[in-house]
Amino acid sequence: MMANDSDLNSSLVGADRVTRREVMALGTGLAAAALVGCGGKIEGMREVESSGGTLQLGFQAHPELARSGGEVIVRVDGKGKPMLVRRVNDAEVSALSLACTHLGCTVKVSQEGLACPCHGSRFSAAGDVTKGPAKAPLERFAAAIEGEAVIVKVG
Ligand code: FES
Repeated sequence: MMANDSDLNSSLVGADRVTRREVMALGTGLAAAALVGCGGKIEGMREVESSGGTLQLGFQAHPELARSGGEVIVRVDGKGKPMLVRRVNDAEVSALSLACTHLGCTVKVSQEGLACPCHGSRFSAAGDVTKGPAKAPLERFAAAIEGEAVIVKVG
């Protein structure tokens, strides 16, 4: 079992084509946006470590994930693009890479949704493309709630 780090409050609401259900699921996470640029610093991002290809985000260290709509941005093992982990509802969680599928910039997470600052691609809360030039959805990682933690398969 592993859990880590600092603090983050971020949210994504209001993307052009976010469904009502997605908005409802995201509604409780309104707070400071995570400011991201291509290679720029991400406010509130937490550095976390995986073990055996699994990332374990305990609710004690990541209390946002204990409630629907809560979310955190993490960087796994100090490398690669950050990942957005979100508690969708009581039973579901999601984990999305924030690497834009167009040319690899870091997707920005804000109250306006998921948007790439480089060429304007936008993504739904589920990671699907809502506006190009990106054509492929954001990479999704298998994630589940187990006891008092969110488990994400990263390897
Ligand atoms: S790298 Fe994201 S839109 Fe081009």
